[in-house]
Amino acid sequence: MATTQTVLTAEGLRYRYGETVALDGVDLRVGPGECVALLGPNGAGKSTLVALAVGMLAPQQGTVRILGGDPRRAATRRRLGVALQTLGFPNTLTVDELVKGAAVRGGLWAAAAAPILEELGLTELARRRVSKLSGGQKQRVQLAMALVTEPALLVLDEPTVGLDTRARRHFWEILARRRAQGAAVLVTTHLIEESAAVADRVVVLDRGRILADAPPEDLVSRLPDRTVTVRTGLDRDALERLPGVLRVGRERDLVTIQTRSPEDLLRVLLDRDPGLSDLRVQDAGLEEAVVALTGDRGPSECAQEGPAA
Ligand SMILES: Nc1ncnc2c1ncn2[C@@H]1O[C@H](COP(=O)(O)OP(=O)(O)O)[C@@H](O)[C@H]1O
Ligand SMILES: [Mg+2]
Repeated sequence: MATTQTVLTAEGLRYRYGETVALDGVDLRVGPGECVALLGPNGAGKSTLVALAVGMLAPQQGTVRILGGDPRRAATRRRLGVALQTLGFPNTLTVDELVKGAAVRGGLWAAAAAPILEELGLTELARRRVSKLSGGQKQRVQLAMALVTEPALLVLDEPTVGLDTRARRHFWEILARRRAQGAAVLVTTHLIEESAAVADRVVVLDRGRILADAPPEDLVSRLPDRTVTVRTGLDRDALERLPGVLRVGRERDLVTIQTRSPEDLLRVLLDRDPGLSDLRVQDAGLEEAVVALTGDRGPSECAQEGPAA
């Protein structure tokens, strides 16, 4: 049966907080070695879905299974590695004590902590209390605790917040190794373009429903918009009257033109301005594709924790 191959299976999930509907019929599957990125504006239901997946909440309707087991049972949760932003640390403990504790709770020897600390570059910090760590270092401790039991499913909520570019790349490399060994990953992130680079599938959630569940490149290719960037002597009026132009903008001394028919546009544009230069045609990115799905609440909301645009 195909379902035995699925690590995480959610079917018909509904969840409401009083009058507020957080999940409104969600179906989701994550297979071995797969990385699924959960995206969507603030309030979409991502955290609720994650809480159900890791057994912190019980479904009001529908089912969640991890390797066929109920995530609220301890035996099932032992197959799970979880790093949630909402989970704090007991600040009096050291890095070493925390990761060893996670190993022992997962049924392993404390010695299992050492190679994970090494892999995450935490060996030097092993004796330090977590209260003395930076945000990025704490993030790595969370990850070490999630990884130490070699889980079948990793559930990570905004795992790269507070990590610099190099640490982030290292983080995705560590995950890639686990995926190669068959671990499944469910990750929420506001870094849409980053998830496009690492996820096999992107799930776009909005108002408790899944709007799209597809490889990132499929989502992008569904969006017909192209951006033409060019240096030109033509004025805005002339540009707006060219065929197939949706919008004209300006980026420093370059003009940007949105269109769904770049070929028609370029034929006329090259003819009208033989002196134009620095021509570029770009696809829409995953961010634009997600915004197109979630509507005008998308752009700022999806990127709300990112740097101000
Ligand atoms: N503990 C709660 N009590 C009441 N409403 C909640 C609670 N947690 C979440 N909600 C509401 O449920 C909806 C989904 O929230 P959430 O799952 O946190 O979304 P996301 O993680 O995508 O931002 C939102 O409308 C939110 O306000
Ligand atoms: Mg959330």
